[in-house]
Amino acid sequence: MATTQSDNNFRQLPPGTKLLDHQVAGHLVNQKNNVIPFLQTKDKTLLKLIQLPPRGRRELNFYQTVFDEKAESDPILRRLKDFLPYFYGTCKFDIFPDELYLHLEDMTVEFEKASIADIKIGSQTYDPEASAEKIQYEKIKNQFSTEVGFKMGFRVYRPSTDTFHFPCRKKLLQLDQFRILEEGIGEYFNLSESLRKDAVFAILLELIDIKNWFENQRKFAFYSSSLLCIYEGLWPCKQHLAAVSQLPPSNHSIVNKNNGDCRAMTNIEDLLQSSYGKRDSCVKVKMIDFSHVYATCERDNNYLIGLDSLINYLKRLLTEL
Ligand SMILES: Nc1ncnc2c1ncn2[C@@H]1O[C@H](COP(=O)(O)OP(=O)(O)OP(=O)(O)O)[C@@H](O)[C@H]1O
Ligand SMILES: [Mg+2]
Repeated sequence: MATTQSDNNFRQLPPGTKLLDHQVAGHLVNQKNNVIPFLQTKDKTLLKLIQLPPRGRRELNFYQTVFDEKAESDPILRRLKDFLPYFYGTCKFDIFPDELYLHLEDMTVEFEKASIADIKIGSQTYDPEASAEKIQYEKIKNQFSTEVGFKMGFRVYRPSTDTFHFPCRKKLLQLDQFRILEEGIGEYFNLSESLRKDAVFAILLELIDIKNWFENQRKFAFYSSSLLCIYEGLWPCKQHLAAVSQLPPSNHSIVNKNNGDCRAMTNIEDLLQSSYGKRDSCVKVKMIDFSHVYATCERDNNYLIGLDSLINYLKRLLTEL
């Protein structure tokens, strides 16, 4: 079968595919091992290379469980499906018989200038089967994100220059609980140019939905799993929630940053409550990365504490900055 040449000439790509051009975290192309972890297809879907066992097998099993017909009769699984990219099954190419891919919906396709964040949720990033060495490695690597409750990688669209800004992944890992608000989350919402409060608010609504699911579910424990957040970088967005017009204007310099503004916070809580269940098509939030998902009968406190922390930082963006 004919093959196409890869963009960077280091190996051939399966026919009808190209390298993923909007990845903000995760495994990158590894020339030494000849591994291409992600591909985009002609029909604008995404292929994720199934990793070595047990990780790849775990992620595949997870998608197969949630997208199985039987899951329709289980309200927890049925709801979970809404929070995942659509799973089309697996995919293999004759010319690379050893490589099996997850075939997934590409969450960015509807956006013109997608500002994308991968937010890995939970202070504990190692799973219950991790070796002592792996635990030690993760603790050192993630010493700051452990106190924050999550870690992030992102790209943000800067309208003034019509460019995407990709902050250094290593620098983002160094942001502690004090710096993460402005230099991490704030930057993702374009704070240094003009804070996109509309997008913060709309993403908050999505996160609250996911949090409510987590409060009820006792099936899975998610380690090292991410929320993929996307908002339209082109502004103003075509379609907005009415509530967006009621958001407090940016007043970065006026408000006491240590205490926050209680009145503004009350207003935000009211606005969130009255907008609950509504959708803003300028944003999308999905759960991704399931190679460390385990069965459990307990509340997933690691994930919930991290998600709560993220939600609180977003509320602070709306009230303090
Ligand atoms: N369905 C999707 N739609 C759009 N982009 C995606 C999707 N899935 C993954 N990505 C992109 O690929 C990146 C890595 O994805 P993912 O976390 O699944 O990979 P990974 O290599 O398993 O990560 P890790 O190194 O954390 O284990 C994401 O940050 C995102 O940029
Ligand atoms: Mg990941």
